Amino acid sequence: MLVLGIESSCDDLSMSLVDQGRVLANVTATQTLDHAPFGGVVPEIASRRHLESLEPTLELALQKAGRGLDAVEGVAATFAPGLVGSLLVGLNFAKALAYARGLPFRGVHHIEGHLWSAFLENEERYPFLALAVSGGHTHLYYVRAFGDYEILGHTVDDAAGEAFDKVAKRMGLGFPGGPAVERLAREGDAKAFDFAVPQVKGRPLHTSFSGMKTAAMEYLEGPARDRAADLAASFQRGVVRALTTVCRRALEARPARQLVVAGGVACNGPLRAALAELAAERGVDLVLPAPKYCMDNGAMIAFVGERYLREGRSHPLTLNAQARLPLGVAP
Ligand SMILES: Nc1ncnc2c1ncn2[C@@H]1O[C@H](COP(=O)(O)OP(=O)(O)OP(=O)(O)O)[C@@H](O)[C@H]1O
Ligand SMILES: [Mg+2]
Repeated sequence: MLVLGIESSCDDLSMSLVDQGRVLANVTATQTLDHAPFGGVVPEIASRRHLESLEPTLELALQKAGRGLDAVEGVAATFAPGLVGSLLVGLNFAKALAYARGLPFRGVHHIEGHLWSAFLENEERYPFLALAVSGGHTHLYYVRAFGDYEILGHTVDDAAGEAFDKVAKRMGLGFPGGPAVERLAREGDAKAFDFAVPQVKGRPLHTSFSGMKTAAMEYLEGPARDRAADLAASFQRGVVRALTTVCRRALEARPARQLVVAGGVACNGPLRAALAELAAERGVDLVLPAPKYCMDNGAMIAFVGERYLREGRSHPLTLNAQARLPLGVAP
């Protein structure tokens, strides 16, 4: 079934065409340069840029897929969570297209999309443990079947990507911060500064990054003032150890065939390496999205949308955008 997927939850507008789980095209209009001077995403700018990019992005996606709009059999769009102004642009475009052409429509939860980005190029084997680690999420799920998500743990404050971004901003490394910290860390000593793995009392599968972020800020005021690379490497090591610790505990607590890690922070090389080691130790397969599908993309939305639509599980066109919505809860 040829499905058009639209992702617009934050500052990227991405459209993709997927047929039988195969990505025919994935086109992303990024706004990194528009937001860079502000050190973060400006919602008003994001939604206005999305509006301007809708038509050219669709045209390019169809062209790359070598299909006409007439061939599209279903439409999917991210409906939650995210910046409401941004979500509404992609969601309303998708709904209008579905209405005008009489096509089935499916709203897709952004994090469900991220999790399945790992299966654009791999086969799933249940049950699996999934870590969504991005700018807004650090959530651990236990997945028994498609569409069945049990939350095992989450961050109690900042998301891991958010912590990377805030530390990078303080260091003047620009936005998004994760890739910049990773680059700088290559020249640093990861054991130069101590970042203890935070423990959330009574909740071993929860994480917390605000303490680490504060520690980084304090080091930067004093001993790390002229040691940016050492600080970046040590901070990154701390985040990687915190994420690996909760994954290890979850794998000890629940039987799983695969460990799935998705979202922007899953691009991080040292994190990928540490989780590969953990997976080998525990005898589970580590499944990671290709780096190009770690960040927000339309392919993951089209992929999930196609699966629901093939099962006849469409949404009514009254489906609204939601800024916050945990995965696994009915909209
Ligand atoms: N190599 C990297 N190392 C660490 N973090 C990274 C890396 N590449 C990207 N990130 C982080 O990933 C985040 C962006 O990921 P993504 O686009 O999936 O998040 P989001 O869409 O903003 O949030 P969410 O998916 O939770 O709504 C940013 O915080 C960025 O710093
Ligand atoms: Mg995202």
